[in-house]
Amino acid sequence: MTENIVITCAVGVLEIRLNRPDKKNALTQDMYAALSDALEASNIDPAVRAIILTGTGDAFTSGNDVRDFQARAATNTESPAGRFLPAISSLKKPLIAAVNGAAIGIGTTMLMHADLIVAARSARFLMPFTALGLVPEAGSSMLVPQAIGLRRANAMLLLGDGIDASTAADWGFVNQVVDDADLMPTAHALATRLAALPPEAVRQTKALIRHGAPDLPTRMADELKIFAQRVASPEAGEAFAAFVEKRKPDFSRFS
Ligand code: COA
Repeated sequence: MTENIVITCAVGVLEIRLNRPDKKNALTQDMYAALSDALEASNIDPAVRAIILTGTGDAFTSGNDVRDFQARAATNTESPAGRFLPAISSLKKPLIAAVNGAAIGIGTTMLMHADLIVAARSARFLMPFTALGLVPEAGSSMLVPQAIGLRRANAMLLLGDGIDASTAADWGFVNQVVDDADLMPTAHALATRLAALPPEAVRQTKALIRHGAPDLPTRMADELKIFAQRVASPEAGEAFAAFVEKRKPDFSRFS
Protein backbone atom coordinates (compact mmCIF):
# COMPACT_ATOMS: atom_id res chain seq x y z
CA MET A 1 0.00 0.00 0.00
CA THR A 2 1.04 3.61 -0.51
CA GLU A 3 0.03 6.65 1.52
CA ASN A 4 -0.25 8.48 -1.81
CA ILE A 5 -3.70 6.98 -2.33
CA VAL A 6 -6.19 7.53 0.50
CA ILE A 7 -9.33 5.43 0.55
CA THR A 8 -12.37 5.96 2.76
CA CYS A 9 -15.80 4.38 2.66
CA ALA A 10 -18.97 5.59 4.38
CA VAL A 11 -22.68 5.05 3.74
CA GLY A 12 -22.19 3.35 0.40
CA VAL A 13 -19.73 5.91 -0.98
CA LEU A 14 -16.10 5.00 -1.60
CA GLU A 15 -13.82 8.04 -1.84
CA ILE A 16 -10.47 7.55 -3.55
CA ARG A 17 -8.08 10.45 -3.11
CA LEU A 18 -4.86 11.01 -5.03
CA ASN A 19 -2.66 12.21 -2.21
CA ARG A 20 0.73 13.42 -3.35
CA PRO A 21 0.13 17.16 -3.33
CA ASP A 22 3.83 18.18 -3.23
CA LYS A 23 4.16 16.59 -6.70
CA LYS A 24 0.75 17.78 -7.91
CA ASN A 25 -0.52 14.20 -7.43
CA ALA A 26 1.71 12.89 -10.26
CA LEU A 27 0.97 9.18 -10.60
CA THR A 28 3.61 6.58 -9.79
CA GLN A 29 3.35 2.85 -10.49
CA ASP A 30 2.67 2.28 -6.77
CA MET A 31 -0.26 4.68 -7.00
CA TYR A 32 -1.61 2.93 -10.11
CA ALA A 33 -1.40 -0.40 -8.28
CA ALA A 34 -3.31 0.98 -5.28
CA LEU A 35 -5.92 2.59 -7.55
CA SER A 36 -6.40 -0.67 -9.45
CA ASP A 37 -6.73 -2.64 -6.21
CA ALA A 38 -9.40 -0.23 -4.94
CA LEU A 39 -11.39 -0.17 -8.18
CA GLU A 40 -11.27 -3.95 -8.69
CA ALA A 41 -12.26 -4.59 -5.04
CA SER A 42 -15.19 -2.17 -5.31
CA ASN A 43 -16.77 -4.30 -8.04
CA ILE A 44 -17.40 -7.13 -5.57
CA ASP A 45 -17.93 -5.11 -2.38
CA PRO A 46 -21.65 -4.73 -1.64
CA ALA A 47 -20.84 -1.86 0.75
CA VAL A 48 -19.77 0.28 -2.23
CA ARG A 49 -22.60 1.77 -4.29
CA ALA A 50 -20.86 4.84 -5.73
CA ILE A 51 -17.25 5.99 -6.03
CA ILE A 52 -15.67 9.45 -5.93
CA LEU A 53 -12.21 10.11 -7.34
CA THR A 54 -10.46 13.35 -6.40
CA GLY A 55 -7.07 14.85 -5.54
CA THR A 56 -5.55 16.51 -2.48
CA GLY A 57 -4.31 20.09 -2.75
CA ASP A 58 -4.39 22.39 -5.76
CA ALA A 59 -4.17 19.76 -8.52
CA PHE A 60 -6.33 16.79 -9.48
CA THR A 61 -3.28 15.11 -11.01
CA SER A 62 -0.43 16.27 -13.24
CA GLY A 63 -0.56 12.86 -14.94
CA ASN A 64 2.17 10.26 -15.08
CA ASP A 65 5.12 10.94 -12.85
CA VAL A 66 7.64 11.82 -15.52
CA ARG A 67 10.61 10.25 -13.74
CA ASP A 68 8.84 7.08 -12.64
CA PHE A 69 7.21 6.76 -16.05
CA GLN A 70 10.53 6.95 -17.91
CA ALA A 71 12.08 4.36 -15.61
CA ARG A 72 9.12 1.94 -15.75
CA ALA A 73 7.01 2.77 -18.80
CA ALA A 74 3.69 0.96 -18.95
CA THR A 75 3.29 -0.83 -22.22
CA ASN A 76 1.39 -3.94 -21.21
CA THR A 77 -1.52 -4.90 -18.99
CA GLU A 78 0.81 -6.63 -16.51
CA SER A 79 2.26 -3.27 -15.39
CA PRO A 80 0.42 -1.27 -12.68
CA ALA A 81 -0.48 1.54 -15.11
CA GLY A 82 -1.51 -1.01 -17.72
CA ARG A 83 -3.77 -2.63 -15.11
CA PHE A 84 -5.35 0.68 -14.09
CA LEU A 85 -6.87 1.49 -17.48
CA PRO A 86 -8.92 -1.73 -17.81
CA ALA A 87 -9.84 -1.42 -14.11
CA ILE A 88 -11.35 2.05 -14.55
CA SER A 89 -12.92 1.37 -17.95
CA SER A 90 -14.63 -1.84 -16.77
CA LEU A 91 -15.67 -0.47 -13.38
CA LYS A 92 -19.17 -1.72 -12.54
CA LYS A 93 -20.17 0.91 -9.97
CA PRO A 94 -20.87 4.55 -10.89
CA LEU A 95 -17.81 6.82 -10.75
CA ILE A 96 -17.91 10.53 -9.99
CA ALA A 97 -14.76 12.56 -10.65
CA ALA A 98 -14.35 15.67 -8.50
CA VAL A 99 -11.71 17.68 -10.34
CA ASN A 100 -9.69 20.28 -8.45
CA GLY A 101 -7.04 22.26 -10.31
CA ALA A 102 -4.91 20.78 -13.09
CA ALA A 103 -5.89 17.52 -14.77
CA ILE A 104 -3.04 16.77 -17.16
CA GLY A 105 -2.46 13.86 -19.55
CA ILE A 106 -3.99 10.75 -18.03
CA GLY A 107 -5.46 13.12 -15.43
CA THR A 108 -7.87 14.17 -18.18
CA THR A 109 -8.10 10.95 -20.18
CA MET A 110 -9.11 8.92 -17.11
CA LEU A 111 -12.07 11.27 -16.74
CA MET A 112 -13.53 9.83 -19.94
CA HIS A 113 -14.29 6.74 -17.82
CA ALA A 114 -16.06 8.71 -15.08
CA ASP A 115 -19.86 8.71 -15.23
CA LEU A 116 -20.29 12.19 -13.76
CA ILE A 117 -17.69 14.96 -13.55
CA VAL A 118 -17.86 17.89 -11.15
CA ALA A 119 -15.23 20.55 -11.79
CA ALA A 120 -14.02 23.16 -9.33
CA ARG A 121 -13.57 26.63 -10.84
CA SER A 122 -9.81 25.99 -10.55
CA ALA A 123 -10.00 22.91 -12.82
CA ARG A 124 -7.92 22.89 -16.02
CA PHE A 125 -7.87 20.10 -18.59
CA LEU A 126 -4.82 19.50 -20.74
CA MET A 127 -3.62 16.56 -22.87
CA PRO A 128 -0.15 17.57 -24.11
CA PHE A 129 0.62 14.20 -25.69
CA THR A 130 1.94 15.34 -29.07
CA ALA A 131 4.25 17.94 -27.50
CA LEU A 132 5.74 15.14 -25.41
CA GLY A 133 6.21 12.95 -28.47
CA LEU A 134 3.38 10.67 -27.30
CA VAL A 135 -0.11 9.73 -28.46
CA PRO A 136 -3.44 9.75 -26.58
CA GLU A 137 -4.21 6.79 -24.28
CA ALA A 138 -7.08 5.38 -22.23
CA GLY A 139 -9.32 5.32 -25.32
CA SER A 140 -9.23 9.12 -25.42
CA SER A 141 -8.72 9.28 -29.21
CA MET A 142 -12.24 7.79 -29.40
CA LEU A 143 -13.90 9.08 -26.23
CA VAL A 144 -12.82 12.74 -26.36
CA PRO A 145 -14.27 13.30 -29.89
CA GLN A 146 -17.44 11.51 -28.75
CA ALA A 147 -17.67 13.81 -25.73
CA ILE A 148 -16.98 17.19 -27.35
CA GLY A 149 -16.93 16.66 -31.13
CA LEU A 150 -14.10 16.15 -33.60
CA ARG A 151 -12.99 19.81 -34.08
CA ARG A 152 -12.65 20.55 -30.38
CA ALA A 153 -11.01 17.16 -29.77
CA ASN A 154 -8.48 17.88 -32.54
CA ALA A 155 -7.53 21.17 -30.88
CA MET A 156 -7.07 19.42 -27.54
CA LEU A 157 -5.33 16.25 -28.78
CA LEU A 158 -3.35 17.45 -31.82
CA LEU A 159 -2.45 20.99 -30.71
CA GLY A 160 -2.56 20.23 -26.98
CA ASP A 161 -4.87 23.18 -26.28
CA GLY A 162 -6.10 23.20 -22.69
CA ILE A 163 -9.54 24.26 -21.49
CA ASP A 164 -10.72 25.81 -18.26
CA ALA A 165 -13.66 24.71 -16.13
CA SER A 166 -16.18 27.06 -17.69
CA THR A 167 -15.28 26.01 -21.27
CA ALA A 168 -15.43 22.38 -20.14
CA ALA A 169 -18.97 22.94 -18.87
CA ASP A 170 -19.99 24.82 -22.06
CA TRP A 171 -18.71 21.90 -24.16
CA GLY A 172 -20.40 19.23 -22.05
CA PHE A 173 -16.98 17.88 -21.05
CA VAL A 174 -18.05 18.09 -17.39
CA ASN A 175 -21.49 18.02 -15.75
CA GLN A 176 -21.12 21.15 -13.65
CA VAL A 177 -18.71 23.74 -12.28
CA VAL A 178 -18.81 24.78 -8.65
CA ASP A 179 -16.75 26.95 -6.32
CA ASP A 180 -13.71 25.06 -5.05
CA ALA A 181 -15.14 24.99 -1.52
CA ASP A 182 -18.30 23.30 -2.83
CA LEU A 183 -16.49 20.59 -4.84
CA MET A 184 -16.53 17.73 -2.33
CA PRO A 185 -19.98 18.51 -0.84
CA THR A 186 -21.39 18.51 -4.40
CA ALA A 187 -19.64 15.25 -5.33
CA HIS A 188 -20.81 13.58 -2.12
CA ALA A 189 -24.38 14.78 -2.66
CA LEU A 190 -24.38 13.17 -6.12
CA ALA A 191 -22.78 9.98 -4.78
CA THR A 192 -25.35 9.78 -1.98
CA ARG A 193 -28.15 10.07 -4.54
CA LEU A 194 -26.62 7.27 -6.62
CA ALA A 195 -26.08 5.12 -3.52
CA ALA A 196 -29.77 5.41 -2.61
CA LEU A 197 -30.94 4.08 -5.99
CA PRO A 198 -31.55 0.38 -6.76
CA PRO A 199 -27.95 -0.83 -7.20
CA GLU A 200 -28.47 -3.47 -9.87
CA ALA A 201 -30.53 -1.06 -12.00
CA VAL A 202 -27.71 1.49 -11.72
CA ARG A 203 -25.04 -1.09 -12.66
CA GLN A 204 -27.03 -2.40 -15.62
CA THR A 205 -27.75 1.13 -16.87
CA LYS A 206 -24.05 1.99 -16.67
CA ALA A 207 -23.17 -1.24 -18.52
CA LEU A 208 -25.65 -0.43 -21.31
CA ILE A 209 -24.34 3.12 -21.70
CA ARG A 210 -20.68 2.10 -21.55
CA HIS A 211 -20.55 -1.29 -23.19
CA GLY A 212 -23.82 -1.75 -25.05
CA ALA A 213 -23.88 -3.11 -28.60
CA PRO A 214 -22.80 -0.42 -31.11
CA ASP A 215 -25.75 -0.93 -33.51
CA LEU A 216 -29.22 0.35 -32.62
CA PRO A 217 -31.36 -2.75 -33.33
CA THR A 218 -29.11 -4.98 -31.18
CA ARG A 219 -28.96 -2.34 -28.45
CA MET A 220 -32.76 -2.04 -28.39
CA ALA A 221 -33.17 -5.82 -28.26
CA ASP A 222 -30.65 -6.05 -25.40
CA GLU A 223 -32.39 -3.23 -23.51
CA LEU A 224 -35.76 -4.94 -23.92
CA LYS A 225 -34.43 -8.24 -22.61
CA ILE A 226 -32.91 -6.58 -19.54
CA PHE A 227 -36.00 -4.37 -19.08
CA ALA A 228 -38.22 -7.47 -18.95
CA GLN A 229 -35.98 -9.02 -16.27
CA ARG A 230 -35.96 -5.74 -14.36
CA VAL A 231 -39.78 -5.44 -14.27
CA ALA A 232 -39.86 -8.74 -12.35
CA SER A 233 -36.88 -7.86 -10.12
CA PRO A 234 -37.13 -7.35 -6.33
CA GLU A 235 -35.77 -3.82 -6.82
CA ALA A 236 -38.66 -2.88 -9.13
CA GLY A 237 -41.03 -4.67 -6.72
CA GLU A 238 -39.90 -2.35 -3.92
CA ALA A 239 -40.24 0.74 -6.18
CA PHE A 240 -43.78 -0.19 -7.26
CA ALA A 241 -44.85 -1.18 -3.72
CA ALA A 242 -43.56 2.13 -2.34
CA PHE A 243 -45.54 4.03 -5.00
CA VAL A 244 -48.78 2.16 -4.18
CA GLU A 245 -48.21 2.51 -0.43
CA LYS A 246 -47.35 6.22 -0.82
CA ARG A 247 -43.99 5.87 0.95
CA LYS A 248 -40.35 6.44 0.07
CA PRO A 249 -38.74 3.36 -1.47
CA ASP A 250 -35.93 1.75 0.51
CA PHE A 251 -33.35 -0.04 -1.63
CA SER A 252 -30.81 -0.45 1.18
CA ARG A 253 -31.32 -4.24 1.42
CA PHE A 254 -30.28 -4.76 -2.20
CA SER A 255 -26.69 -5.13 -3.32
N1 COA B 1 5.84 14.14 -12.85
C1 COA B 1 6.77 14.33 -11.88
N2 COA B 1 6.82 15.41 -11.09
C2 COA B 1 5.87 16.36 -11.28
C3 COA B 1 4.88 16.24 -12.27
C4 COA B 1 4.88 15.07 -13.06
N3 COA B 1 3.96 14.85 -14.00
N4 COA B 1 4.10 17.34 -12.22
C5 COA B 1 4.58 18.11 -11.23
N5 COA B 1 5.68 17.53 -10.67
C6 COA B 1 6.50 18.04 -9.58
C7 COA B 1 7.46 19.13 -10.05
O1 COA B 1 8.62 18.55 -10.61
C8 COA B 1 7.69 19.85 -8.73
O2 COA B 1 8.62 19.09 -7.99
P1 COA B 1 9.79 19.85 -7.11
O3 COA B 1 9.04 20.68 -6.10
O4 COA B 1 10.57 18.73 -6.52
O5 COA B 1 10.56 20.68 -8.10
C9 COA B 1 6.36 19.77 -8.01
O6 COA B 1 5.67 18.67 -8.62
C10 COA B 1 5.51 21.00 -8.15
O7 COA B 1 5.36 21.27 -9.53
P2 COA B 1 5.55 22.74 -10.16
O8 COA B 1 5.82 22.58 -11.62
O9 COA B 1 6.60 23.49 -9.38
O10 COA B 1 4.13 23.38 -9.87
P3 COA B 1 3.35 24.46 -10.76
O11 COA B 1 2.16 24.84 -9.94
O12 COA B 1 4.27 25.54 -11.22
O13 COA B 1 2.86 23.66 -12.06
C11 COA B 1 1.89 21.79 -13.26
C12 COA B 1 1.99 22.56 -11.92
C13 COA B 1 1.07 20.55 -13.00
C14 COA B 1 1.19 22.70 -14.28
C15 COA B 1 3.32 21.45 -13.78
O14 COA B 1 4.05 20.82 -12.72
C16 COA B 1 3.39 20.53 -14.98
O15 COA B 1 3.14 20.96 -16.08
N6 COA B 1 3.73 19.24 -14.74
C17 COA B 1 3.99 18.28 -15.82
C18 COA B 1 2.68 17.76 -16.38
C19 COA B 1 2.89 16.80 -17.52
O16 COA B 1 3.57 17.06 -18.49
N7 COA B 1 2.21 15.63 -17.40
C20 COA B 1 2.17 14.65 -18.41
C21 COA B 1 3.11 13.52 -18.15
S1 COA B 1 2.88 12.20 -19.34
